[in-house]
Parts: sequence; C-alpha cells; structure tokens
Amino acid sequence: MYRKWLTFMTGAVLMIALAAAPLASAAARTYDQTAIDIHLNATTMPEHVALTWSADPETTMTVTWRTSTAVNDCKIEYKEENGAVNTMTIKPHLFQTAATDLNYGRMNLFTVTLHNLKPGTKYLYRIGNDQNEWTGYSSFTTEDTATVTDNQFKFLVFGDSQSGNYEVPNYNPWHVTLENAYKANPDAKFFINVGDLVEKGQYYQHWNNWFAAAQGVVDRIPAMVVQGNHETYDAADWNSTKPQYFVQQFPVFQNGPDGLKGQTYSYNYGKVHFVVLDSQGEEESEDAQGNVDQAKEEAMFLKQADWLRNDLEQNKDAVFTFVLFHKTPYYNKGTRSNILLKKIFTPIFDQYHVDVVFNGHDHGTSRTYPIYHDEFMQSPSQGTVYYVTGRSGAKYYPDLTQKVWDAKFYDPQDQPDYQTVDVDGRKVTIKAFKQDGTLVDTYVIDKAHPENSTSNHEILPSRYNTKQEVPAIGDSVKLVIFGNMAYGSSSKATIQNGKAYADIQTIAAYTGGSYDAAGKTLRIGHKKYQFTDNMLTDKGTKVDIDALNAMGWSNHYDKKFNMVFVDLQL
Ligand SMILES: [Fe+2]
Ligand SMILES: [Fe+2]
Repeated sequence: MYRKWLTFMTGAVLMIALAAAPLASAAARTYDQTAIDIHLNATTMPEHVALTWSADPETTMTVTWRTSTAVNDCKIEYKEENGAVNTMTIKPHLFQTAATDLNYGRMNLFTVTLHNLKPGTKYLYRIGNDQNEWTGYSSFTTEDTATVTDNQFKFLVFGDSQSGNYEVPNYNPWHVTLENAYKANPDAKFFINVGDLVEKGQYYQHWNNWFAAAQGVVDRIPAMVVQGNHETYDAADWNSTKPQYFVQQFPVFQNGPDGLKGQTYSYNYGKVHFVVLDSQGEEESEDAQGNVDQAKEEAMFLKQADWLRNDLEQNKDAVFTFVLFHKTPYYNKGTRSNILLKKIFTPIFDQYHVDVVFNGHDHGTSRTYPIYHDEFMQSPSQGTVYYVTGRSGAKYYPDLTQKVWDAKFYDPQDQPDYQTVDVDGRKVTIKAFKQDGTLVDTYVIDKAHPENSTSNHEILPSRYNTKQEVPAIGDSVKLVIFGNMAYGSSSKATIQNGKAYADIQTIAAYTGGSYDAAGKTLRIGHKKYQFTDNMLTDKGTKVDIDALNAMGWSNHYDKKFNMVFVDLQL
C-alpha cells in the first residue's frame, strides 16, 4: 500500500516543488540534473567533499570526496590558520553502482580520518589529485575541550531532504534549507539529517544532486546522518537492499552491532550522548520477491535493543541523551503506526530516561508531551519527548494532523523547515524554523530550573490519557478523530486546552447527515443534535467530543493505535 501511495503522491509533490521554486531560484545553480555518465559525472578534480566524525570530535575529523577513476591517489593538506602544512596521501577505493541502479558507472571514493588534531582549533584544508589539481581551501573546527566541561554548543537537525519524485531528483529545496540554516547559525558545530536524504538510495543521480546541493556546509561542519527507508530503495522499482551507497559515502562511527555498522552508532559531543538507530527493519528484511520476513525484522530490532541497553548503560553520566532514528513511534502522518519498533525501543527509552527522540519519515513537525510507559507526563524529567522534524526537502504529505500525544504540531505545507538545538549546561532549547527563518516553535528542557521547562506549562489531554485497554479497530468504528487514513480519518480534529474537537461538516459528510451552521443543528437520519456556543470552537466549525458524549455518543482512546475514536450512535 505504501508504494502505491508514493505514486499517488507525485502530483502533490510536484506542486510543492514548484511552490518552493522562487526561493530556490536565488541559487546560482540548480541541483536537479538527470544526465549522468559512466563516471557518475566524477572528473579528475576532487569534489563532493564531506565531513563526518568516526572518532573523537576533539582530536579527529573524517573527510570524504570523490574523483573519476583516472586519479591514482589524492593528497589532503591541512593546517592551523598560521601553522605548518600537514600532507597525507590517500589511496581510493572503487565505488561501483549496484546492479539495481539505472546508472551504470564507477568512480573513486576517498576517505581519510585526520588524527592528533588540537581541540577547539580551526583548520584549513584542501584536496589535490595526482595531477596537482587542487580544490579551494575549506575549513573545519574540532570540538573545544571546554565544551566537554561547560556543555555549551549548538547543532542543526534536518528532516527528510528527499526529492519526492524519483524521476525528478530535485534537491534545490534541500540546498536552500541547508544554506539558510547554516547562514543563520554559523556557530553550529555539526548537522544531523534524520533520514530519507534521497528519494532512491540506489539511484546515483539523486546522490550527485544531494552532495552538490550540500557543498558550502557539508565541507565545513560534519554531517551526522541517519539512514531512512528511502536509502534502501533500488532504482528500477521500490524493492529494498541494504543501504549500500549510504554506508559507503558516510563513514560514521563503526561502533554499532554486527551487520548494522554505519547504520546504528553512538557518539558524544559535550556532555550529550547521541544514539543513532536503524528503524528500517521492514525494508532490510525483504526477500527477493519483496515480502517482509517478520521474524527477521523483529530480530533486527531486538539486536539493536540489546546493543542500545548496553550503550545507554555505559553512558549514564551524560547530561542529555538524544536518540535519532527515521520512523516514528509517535507519528503525525495518517498512515503510520510502526507498532513493532515502538514496542521494542520505547521501554528502553523509558528505562534510561532518554530526553528527546528525533524522528523523520512523516514530513510534518511535531513534538509530544513527555511520555513514560505510553502515558503523558507533565515534566520532561518524567518522560521522553518525541520530536518529528518536518521536511528539509521538496517532499510533502497532505495527510498530516496533530495527534492526541502532540503538544505542538506544525504542518510545513508552504515551505520546508529545520531545527536548531542549543545545549547550554543542563538546559537545552530546541527551535523549529521555516526555511525563510520564521520561528515556528521553541521548546526548553531546563534540568536546573524545571519550572522553566516548556512542558511544565502545557495542559495534558488527561481526558484521553486513559489506561483503559479497549479492543482494536473493528467494524463498528465510524469516525477516527486522530489518525489513520486507512481507517477513515477526519483529519480535521483539533486539541485545545486538553479537549478534543471534531469537525462537524466532516461528521455530517461521513454519516450522510447535514449541518445547519446558523441554527447549530446537526441532523443524522431521524436524529437531531442541537449544539450551543459553549460546545463549539473554530468559528463554530468544530464540536467538543465531550459534548457529543453527553448527547449519547461515545469515544475511546485506543492504546494499540494511539488514536481517539468516536463511535457514532446511528
Ligand atoms: Fe521521507
Ligand atoms: Fe521515510
């Protein structure tokens, strides 16, 4: 169903891509080329220079780049601003496109980790080939030793940057979002992309555009990337393989479990512990016919769960713990639930009090109330906040809604968005911005002064935070207030001050009834429901579902699907 949905989405995605065009057109070049040669457009000149960390951020930097196969080796020169030049010679490894790619080609990939760097130091560097052709100088800065003590630093987070259409590898919106975010935050120490970097992970033309669009940032601050489901997709169809291109191009920390190195990893910066998980159990457990081996999928999650418990146990001293993975246990898109990964991972986040989980995949921006054992908590000291990071690229979904667990929801229809995360000792401030810099949300966790934490001032939707176990979706359910298109979502409910309101016209349309807005009267069959002003909100378009209950309707909160349902009494 998901793959059909992707096809269906194409029209909407194109419209959004066009809507983003005026911003993108300010760029000197575009990042949507489809022409690609057998060198994958690599030349003898080193390019696609990218930084990441695979070892200690205080004393190392990992640099990757590419050339055509006509180059035998490359040199990297690096130096402090007025220091002596260090030179290393690097041999390439051959990168060939997969048999499933539509672009046959090969090129050289180069990876080097510079060691014994000075902490807190800016280095200039450039790369040259064996024909003495050199890139211009770029620069990077190692982590300051003081950061390990004072825990003050900022980083950027980007949601899905994919093009949204595999035939149109348009990474202009990603370019503008990344460039604008870095211009507004030149003090950011690194950036995170939470997955679905590209539309098809085994279709090289997408990577050409992604890397070209990221130049100017990815060669100055490290990219600490997370793998998404689209990194697994083959070019010719939507079958999945291991994310071969992703792991070859991003040599991150290789400290994950066997079989998942480069996809699952952890690292520390300041006094923050970062954990990256691979949520693609489904895609990575497909057989050749595209059927998911569910036992294999569960085993893949359980293997990471064992590794995660051990990793969190060893990093209990961190002031903050952030976990990043692509798919959403607490989603804002209609057709998502990810029940298995939620069941396996979230109890571990509860046990070790993970502060924030950052997800992608849904392309909407939302953050939950603090959640502990699937129940809403007043303070972030009592639970984990799940933050869905929106979209940094062209792809947009039309079925995003606030869910019962969301304290904040923002639908990035008009333009992409991104987050800044400012860590300051025992306080963290997460801000969401539109691509043009408009502030969308500010969220604070202050461990020294909990009364200043945002969650402590938000009203919990306690009416729906029930421990009651109710049956899963059945034939009797007529209307879903929060959730899943597959079950007939209204997509128009809102939460205000902890109360849920349903769209009256949607109820009328769905039930074959009619609504007289002037008379505030809903008629369904022979039944008539008379509303009063205090039952209504949003200019009389939505009705309090508690009021509906009082009129003989009923609703329930379904723990399995984490949704509120209204059972119509017809
Ligand atoms: Fe995505
Ligand atoms: Fe995704």
